[in-house]
Amino acid sequence: SSYRIASIPGDGIGVDVQAEARKVLDRAAKRFGFTLEWTEFDWSCERYAETGRMMPEDGIEQLSGFDQILLGAVGFPGVPDHVSLWGLLIPVRRAFSQYVNLRPVRLLPGTTSVLKDRTADELEMVIVRENSEGEYSELGGRQNRGLPGEFALQESVFTRVGVERIIRYAFELAQTRTGRVVSATKSNGIIHTMPFWDEIFAEVAADFPTVHSEQCHIDALAARMVQQPERIDVVVASNLFGDILSDLAAAVTGGLGMAPSGNINPEREHPSMFEAVHGSAPDIAGKGIANPVAQILAGTMMLEHLGEAEAARAVYAAVEQVLAMGEVATPDLGGKATTAELGDAIADSVEA
Ligand code: NAI
Ligand code: MG
Repeated sequence: SSYRIASIPGDGIGVDVQAEARKVLDRAAKRFGFTLEWTEFDWSCERYAETGRMMPEDGIEQLSGFDQILLGAVGFPGVPDHVSLWGLLIPVRRAFSQYVNLRPVRLLPGTTSVLKDRTADELEMVIVRENSEGEYSELGGRQNRGLPGEFALQESVFTRVGVERIIRYAFELAQTRTGRVVSATKSNGIIHTMPFWDEIFAEVAADFPTVHSEQCHIDALAARMVQQPERIDVVVASNLFGDILSDLAAAVTGGLGMAPSGNINPEREHPSMFEAVHGSAPDIAGKGIANPVAQILAGTMMLEHLGEAEAARAVYAAVEQVLAMGEVATPDLGGKATTAELGDAIADSVEA
């Protein structure tokens, strides 16, 4: 079979890691007898600087015919971050109803956690982030600019449908893993939306008697992630809280260079979009030293979503094998290899 994939490398190291992910995925496709038909889009901050838009006006329409989207990263100094977020990422996530942002983390062989005495099993978890509503909202505004009474107001939107479907997804996922799910809210301080989330969480929990469920304040859960990560498996959280917890989860496992992410439309009515958790890393952009593993693992999530589970496992195993040998490692992993050298080593291992 053949799949049509939209490739959006974006900015900074997004471009470097995307090239390696494509290389590795193509090698897996060849080995397992399918093809990935890539179409490249130059949608980026560079394009914004030239045209005033991150993507063309009919960008969503252009993407709608693809099976999946693989995105590098967008954002670059000189273009405000809200432009790249609201000009590309959020419109794609919302237009294609990619309401699940799935961010699995695992300590991979040959890497060390900042939590030194922890085993890989203790550090394995997945953040299920609500990806379509919540705190990331355009509702609000600013008043009295420059006056003593200046203020800013920002609204959050939590719908019953939106909250219930993400929580249900997390419970279903927990059933396929260790059977534990924890929800992160802050209902003592945020007294309308968060208690609403908690209520729906309790309702859904009643439908899953075999799943161990727990509600936790986000501050306490953040501390637990560092002090008792073995007590955490599936975490479900709102758009903002899930965003924060997934960077923390990545940091306590292998670091940002290792954490993949999927913006998923579970009903498969629209393309899903896969990317690394990390951004465009302007501090190391153009140096050819970015770690491509997060992007390659995002590629394994894409293969799985396409139904190519065997190929996904082979790529994952290749990443593990190369990291375990430790000979080819980028600077963030303590080595001297370039992005392309690590990508090549993984690609060769996929074929072996
Ligand atoms: P970042 O994730 O780009 O970088 C944070 C730190 O981690 C930097 O020191 C960077 O060098 C390091 N790092 C990240 N990925 C790495 C990799 N693959 N290998 C080695 N080191 C790596 O986050 P930052 O600096 O806050 O944001 C930079 C830009 O990226 C901003 O414009 C931001 O808006 C954008 N961004 C875009 C995202 C996306 O496209 N989904 C997600 C997060 C940030
Ligand atoms: Mg983030």
